[in-house]
Amino acid sequence: MFRLVLRGELSMRYDKAYFDREIDRSGTEATKWSRYDNLGFGDSCSFPLWLADMDLPTSVEISRALIKRAEHPIYGYTDRGPEYQRLFAERFDSSHQGVKPSDVVLSTGVMYSIAGALEIFTNPGDCVLIMRPCYRPFVTTVESLGRKPVFVDMIQGKDAYEIDFDGMDHAAAQCRAFILCNPHNPTGRVFTHGELESLAALCERHQLIVISDEIHSDFVYGDSKFSSIATASQYVRDHGVFCVAPTKAFNLAGIKISAALIFNQDMNRRFVGRAKTVGINSINLFAMEALKAAYVQSGSWQEGLLQYLGDNRDIVTRFVEANRGSIQAYRPEGTYFYWLNFPEVENVATHLAHEARVVLNDGADFSPYCSEWARLNFACPQRVLTSALERIASWRRGRCRRL
Ligand SMILES: Cc1ncc(COP(=O)(O)O)c(C=O)c1O
Repeated sequence: MFRLVLRGELSMRYDKAYFDREIDRSGTEATKWSRYDNLGFGDSCSFPLWLADMDLPTSVEISRALIKRAEHPIYGYTDRGPEYQRLFAERFDSSHQGVKPSDVVLSTGVMYSIAGALEIFTNPGDCVLIMRPCYRPFVTTVESLGRKPVFVDMIQGKDAYEIDFDGMDHAAAQCRAFILCNPHNPTGRVFTHGELESLAALCERHQLIVISDEIHSDFVYGDSKFSSIATASQYVRDHGVFCVAPTKAFNLAGIKISAALIFNQDMNRRFVGRAKTVGINSINLFAMEALKAAYVQSGSWQEGLLQYLGDNRDIVTRFVEANRGSIQAYRPEGTYFYWLNFPEVENVATHLAHEARVVLNDGADFSPYCSEWARLNFACPQRVLTSALERIASWRRGRCRRL
């Protein structure tokens, strides 16, 4: 059983050994683990590499801050002072080329912000542009609010997924808003500044509201660099809602905290009004403690994490190269996802779950054309990752032999 050693330790070494520990999440109602148990094939030997959280421990600084606050026995109404807005403003100042605390609206989650933005800035029946494959909640949220998703499929280029700018331009003519996901889930693309400028021009041409989901912006590898589409044009900055969060970066998804950066004062005011009415800016007091410890004290943890995830990305890259022909993929530039293609295996995620007992996200959830694809979350201890990959490889070899 994993035990956190907190007291008496002045500073932690966030090295490979820290992240290599395999932490039992049973009894914590962890969705990633409890859901696959319910599928009926779960035992201690199944590998759930699907949902977007990490099987890696957050920083000791964050755990310490939460424990310290929990030790005080009164959890009453709590002020969310400007300090929290300032923390977000400082964190995203350079990626968004200037953020003032007043631009920041706290929100319990990115998807609530996106839903709020759609409700406030579009009307029922309006069309919303989305690049596909895409994170499924974009689609369900747009539809449940009575708006219509309009999809443009990304192009499978030589080295990476590419944006179909002609398709986007055509589709945008009927749309009121555009939901961008950058870094992109599930493909792992981190869009270049040039691509963002072309998207920004297109948004201006068609007078779209821009909703930019930037929740994965802390996961960027190698030469890639995240910049927000807010920096691509004044039009987008004035017509956009830019959603950021510490929850993926610091593994705090269950704690729920994020922010919407809204530079246009009128849009900001309307969003704040709505957020107050529905309560999405009522941030939990533990989330506030976690935020402070993440952004102020967890820099060296994050450095260690990115090193570890970079190594995990390399492990999957070598696995893809070794299985070339039967498994294909572009190397992700960001996120902790590898988007894997298994040519000619329909419903591959179901086969993998039942036959290899490795649970990945079903590609069909991201696009009806992607049932031969599956999304692998490589944010887990390296032994787990390599064991899961071995199972996938041997399952694939067995299947090829049977063909
Ligand atoms: C692209 C993207 N946006 C939003 C979310 C969910 O964010 P939140 O929990 O803050 O609503 C996820 C979680 O997987 C995601 O991948």
